[in-house]
Amino acid sequence: MKILITGGAGFIGSHVVRKFVKKYPNYTIYNLDALTYAGNLENLKDIDSLPNYKFIKGDIADEMFIAKLFKEHMFDGVIHLAAESHVDRSIADPMAFVRTNVIGTVNLLNAFNCIWGEDFVNKKFYHVSTDEVYGSLGTEGLFTESTAYDPNSPYSASKASSDHFVRAYGETYGLPYVITNCSNNYGPYHFPEKLIPLFINNIIENKPLPVYGDGKYTRDWLFVEDHAAAIDLVFHKGKNHETYNIGGFNEWQNIDLVKLLCDVMDKKLSRPIGSSQKLISYVKDRPGHDLRYAIDASKINKELGWKPSVTFEEGLEKTVDWYLSNKEWLNHVTSGDYKEYYKNMYKQE
Ligand code: NAD
Ligand code: TYD
Repeated sequence: MKILITGGAGFIGSHVVRKFVKKYPNYTIYNLDALTYAGNLENLKDIDSLPNYKFIKGDIADEMFIAKLFKEHMFDGVIHLAAESHVDRSIADPMAFVRTNVIGTVNLLNAFNCIWGEDFVNKKFYHVSTDEVYGSLGTEGLFTESTAYDPNSPYSASKASSDHFVRAYGETYGLPYVITNCSNNYGPYHFPEKLIPLFINNIIENKPLPVYGDGKYTRDWLFVEDHAAAIDLVFHKGKNHETYNIGGFNEWQNIDLVKLLCDVMDKKLSRPIGSSQKLISYVKDRPGHDLRYAIDASKINKELGWKPSVTFEEGLEKTVDWYLSNKEWLNHVTSGDYKEYYKNMYKQE
């Protein structure tokens, strides 16, 4: 089996590539990635010499390149993770999100259709999406697979659009697809622009921790390796033309999560308990900030037997340990362009 994984040099993609390359030596895994600021081949250096792994540098928004690549390799399956993924960047530059998340996805769908259009037997197009397409919950309720889409940020609007295209290709052309909508991930190799890795890096450097608004916004957090395990399961066992919600059964208000993280970091860095919490700094809110995301993951649990394998406390400790033992990785990704991004975003060095 030849499987194309897009965005494999990013955070979640690198965990998925690693899992597939190691677990399925009889598959050839092609990792297609444009290596944007978020893509980093260092994330895969432990597996990149294995014989069933191939890296291809390229842009999914480049229609001709994608069409040619699919004709050349005749991929049996696609696991599509490549995306612009950060809400704050989508507010600053929505068009980059339309280009990669919408146009890039449609290019992949067209190319897959073009090579297999007459015969989709044993073929699969797996689209990895987010719970953010459902919009924002109030204090009650959970997102289910039948919750109506109601995206609020340019990021979630672009992901919602890509989900609709995938579903439409299933209805119109019979494309064999599955979609998963997952909650917030955390873990090793997470680029330090998202809440948890940004705050870990700032605590290490004794910099302020910029909590948006009142800090009462709520997210459901899942350890990235549990997401990769769910992707493996859905790719192999998920039903065609179905969507599955994936979540951690693990809701946290941002401020409570940040305080827990501060305490874990103090312990690991042998600093007096309470010192990192002093870095908390409430800053201007994100425009259109979704109040709460929470996932009902009972479908994937009942139908495929998936559930998270680690508690949040365990996952957070593993994550912190990883960042503290991979300072070189952190130094690399926070040099260069990152400094400019940070200055523009947070108005601080
Ligand atoms: P990421 O930003 O860490 O990685 C994205 C990867 O895509 C990078 O390696 C980047 O180089 C690559 N890429 C970007 N534009 C490209 C293009 N035009 N052509 C080819 N490659 C390109 O993202 P992530 O957090 O790993 O998210 C992966 C997927 O999972 C995304 O589709 C995202 O919407 C989805 N998702 C993420 C989360 C989360 O919490 N991070 C939760 C649910 C779903
Ligand atoms: P983030 O990690 O960007 O994920 P998403 O917006 O996709 O859920 O943000 C998680 C939560 O943390 C969200 O409510 C915004 C908040 N947040 C801050 O308070 N400060 C920050 O510097 C960042 C990046 C996020």
